[in-house]
Parts: sequence; C-alpha cells; structure tokens
Amino acid sequence: MGFPDINGKTRVCGLFGFPVEHSFSPAMHNAAFQNRGLNWAYLPFAVHPDNLVKAVQGIPSLNLAGVNITVPHKQRVIPLLDEVEPTAAKIGAVNTIVNSDGKLMGYNTDGAGFIRSLAEEASFQPRDQRVLLIGAGGAARAVAFSLALSGCKAIYFTNRTTETARELAKEINLNCGTTVEVLSWGLKLPAEKVAEVDLVVQTTSLGMWPHTQAAPEFPFAALHPGQVVCDLIYTPRQTVFLQQASARGIVILNGLGMLLYQGVLAFELWTGQRAPVEVMKETLERQLIDSKLKESKL
Ligand code: ATR
Repeated sequence: MGFPDINGKTRVCGLFGFPVEHSFSPAMHNAAFQNRGLNWAYLPFAVHPDNLVKAVQGIPSLNLAGVNITVPHKQRVIPLLDEVEPTAAKIGAVNTIVNSDGKLMGYNTDGAGFIRSLAEEASFQPRDQRVLLIGAGGAARAVAFSLALSGCKAIYFTNRTTETARELAKEINLNCGTTVEVLSWGLKLPAEKVAEVDLVVQTTSLGMWPHTQAAPEFPFAALHPGQVVCDLIYTPRQTVFLQQASARGIVILNGLGMLLYQGVLAFELWTGQRAPVEVMKETLERQLIDSKLKESKL
C-alpha cells in the first residue's frame, strides 16, 4: 500500500527495533495487505532502547493494531505486556504484539515460523527426531524451545562458549523434558553424533554478509543423505556452511523461510485472515535482490 491509499480508516501496525532501516518486513507486510485488499499499513519505528517503555505504551494510545519487535527489544518488552503466550514466555522473547482491545498480547512467531519453514521447505516434522544445534544465542533459543515443544527426541548443542550451551540445554531439559547433551565445539564434534542426527541447524552469525567466507568448523564428512541441514542466515542465500553440506548430497535450507513464516504468522494474528504466502515470499526475494544491488554499488 502506498500513500495515496492511506485514509482515515487505515489500520496501522509496524516494527519496533533499533535499527530498523534494513528490515524486509515493511515491504513484505504491505504487499500482503495490498494483495488481500486490506486497508492496513506497516511502518518501521526506530525505537531507541531508552524509549521502549513509552513506545509500547503508545501501542494502545495510538490504536496500533499490533507490532513486530526486533533486536534489541525482544526480551525487554515482556514485562511491559498484559499477557504472553506460553511458548513465548518459555523462549523468553516476544517478536509479535497484538493489540486486543487495548490489551497487549505477546507471541513468538520466530520459533513457530522456523518449524513451519522446516515442514514447507524440507518436509521435516520434528516429532521423535534428533537435532544438532550450532550456537546457543537468542536465535538458537527460539529454535531449540520450538523443536523441543514440537516433540523432538533429543537436542545436541555445540557452542564456542560451552557454558552458554550448558545453561540453555539445562533450561530446555527442565522446561520440556527433552533429552539434551552438550558436545565439543568445531572439529572436535563427535562424528558419530553428527551422523546420528536427523537435522543440523546453524544458528551463529558465522558466514553472514559481509563475512561470507566464514563458517563454523564442522566434520562435514560425517553427514549423509537423508539428513537436513539448515543455516538461519539468508545473506548470502547459501553460506559456505550450506555449500559444504550440499556438496555431500544433503537437503539444505536457509533462514529465508523462517523470516517468511514468522511474518505469515504475525499477519494472521493481526488480521485474522490467511496470509498470501506466495506474495510475501516473492516480495522477500525481491528485497534480497534489491539489497544485493545496493551492496554491489557501495
Ligand atoms: P542471535 O540472537 O543472532 O542468536 P547472539 O544471541 O549474540 O545472536 O548469539 C550469537 C551466537 O553466535 C552465539 O552462539 C555465539 O557464540 P558464543 O556464545 O560463544 O558467543 C555465536 N558466535 C558469534 N560469533 C562467533 C564466532 N566468531 N565464532 C563462533 N561462534 C560465534
């Protein structure tokens, strides 16, 4: 939706983050609203951390329909909400707020978006599967809780800082009962564990643009066809990590699906309507190409 279409009845939602200018979400959601003929608009709001409380209070005050929450506010926003959906509370992060008649409801569509992308793009269902997670930061947390709550049989963690992985593993085990284990980092990862898992998820920032030649060290020779390897990075679309997995005949996927489906689920929470997935996907693809063109001109 462009400015000529905005009128007195337009429902407004948006993104609170700092920074927000590189986000693909405004284009993705506005294309979806337009496709569905909804008089809605999605705007970026650069909310400095010092202003988060006032900005969240502004959601009902300004009658916003809802907002997405991104870095660095996903944890700090939780005590400011009226209700937090149990999965989001467990993850300890909210990325979507719905303004329900003045009550602020918090959700985490990142984790659910990841599970949906696994199903849609790799026909992967987590129930009774074994997973290896590389990394133990915020993204790993959302992914690990969602996999555990979706019935994963075991989750193995490996992280540069072992202690961080131990803490996350303990929390997952206590909250979800899932079998967890912390494995050595890098080339010391036991090959038999790598061979045993059904899914590997790379959640660190290693290999993200502009450091595209970086990748976590990994015993790739232990991978075998039948496994799925996912890297949450989507700039570049195929990290060095994914290239190495792909060379061994493994089904690979990047993080674009997670970005898409977290948006799809947020759209559905706000509007109560089915999201136009294909339109949102095409818009994301176009945004990626546009951002690449801009990068190459730098
Ligand atoms: P995000 O929210 O994107 O997950 P984060 O919470 O800062 O970001 O987590 C970053 C993850 O990438 C962590 O697992 C981090 O490992 P540490 O716990 O050891 O810090 C990992 N990471 C980041 N840079 C890394 C590097 N150069 N080598 C190995 N791991 C790295």
